[in-house]
Amino acid sequence: MTADKVRVGVVGLGYWGPNLARNFDRLPGAELAYCCDLDEANLAKARGLYPTTIVTDDYTQLLADDALDAIVVATSVPTHYALGKKSLEAGKHTFIEKPIALKAADAQDLLDTADEYGVKLMVGHLLEYHPAVAKMKELIDSGELGKVFYAYANRLNLGKVRTDENALWSFGPHDISVLNYLTGDEPVEVSARGECYLQDDVEDVVFGYIKYKSGVVGHLHVSWLDPHKSRKITVVGEKKMVVFDDMESERKITVYDKGATTTRTKFETYGEFVTLHFGDIHIPKIGNDEPLRLETQHFVDCINNDETPRSDGRDALNVVKVLDAMEISLREGGRPVKTTEL
Ligand SMILES: NC(=O)c1ccc[n+]([C@@H]2O[C@H](COP(=O)([O-])OP(=O)(O)OC[C@H]3O[C@@H](n4cnc5c(N)ncnc54)[C@H](O)[C@@H]3O)[C@@H](O)[C@H]2O)c1
Repeated sequence: MTADKVRVGVVGLGYWGPNLARNFDRLPGAELAYCCDLDEANLAKARGLYPTTIVTDDYTQLLADDALDAIVVATSVPTHYALGKKSLEAGKHTFIEKPIALKAADAQDLLDTADEYGVKLMVGHLLEYHPAVAKMKELIDSGELGKVFYAYANRLNLGKVRTDENALWSFGPHDISVLNYLTGDEPVEVSARGECYLQDDVEDVVFGYIKYKSGVVGHLHVSWLDPHKSRKITVVGEKKMVVFDDMESERKITVYDKGATTTRTKFETYGEFVTLHFGDIHIPKIGNDEPLRLETQHFVDCINNDETPRSDGRDALNVVKVLDAMEISLREGGRPVKTTEL
């Protein structure tokens, strides 16, 4: 670190990398020391925006610079593992965009490498830094929702149809990371079904099911072939239910004081067996801090304060385990796949 600033190099300046570069450049505690990409047009843009930053197409230059504290990998997913591993082995704190790798074994290896070299490893699970998700977590952890029964996420659109990855890998990482984060639990078994309508072997729509260690269940519906533009996460608790709707600007979170309790003892009539509760609907105020700014600030803070990132290597591994196992399940007609099989 120089002059108390964390020196950061961003590799990958395609669609998303420039957003990370902009945020690290603006953070008072960070210095955007390098911008790296293989594409000359992307490098030219970076030169124009950041005149004092070293702009290069040679990743090894970042690895070899002893004064560089951290590397941010925002390249395409298949390159994450190799570039991330090199960064960790060069002793750099490393931020890798989601998903951290394509296979659980590679994610585990990155986690082990970070431990071996004593550096921070963080993954860009952006929604874990969303103030609305923080509110949901607070409601769950405080016990306000009561026992959580299940949670589900919808990420739907008539949108960009990808050829190199299916809807699960394209949309799933964010929702899976939030479901894991909110439940605070380890996924133990998943299943997934999906359909390929537009291209062979690339699922346009995927329905996924996650079973957690505690018995809590998560469900995922992702699609780029849908009439709705929906980005919603719903958590159903015993006492209350909460919905995060990211398409809403002012009512991102709605808390429903609704629930049902049952008696397991002998009962004569239906009314004695189940009690439904319909109470108020509450819309808490949510801070409007930009999640990406909070996420990049968190990475810098964890480096400075020697703390473990919220979206650390273990968190990254748990998301890849779900994706990896769902991919197997998709290929095998929806077979339940245990994460221990990976
Ligand atoms: N957090 C979010 O909300 C969010 C949103 C979009 C994308 N992403 C993630 O960001 C990552 C990048 O996605 P994208 O859409 O920007 O991809 P992209 O294909 O637009 O950009 C990738 C860039 O990486 C560069 N690159 C590849 N290999 C390189 C190497 N060895 N050295 C230097 N540069 C290299 C390419 O030239 C390209 O410019 C992915 O992991 C994606 O999942 C995250």
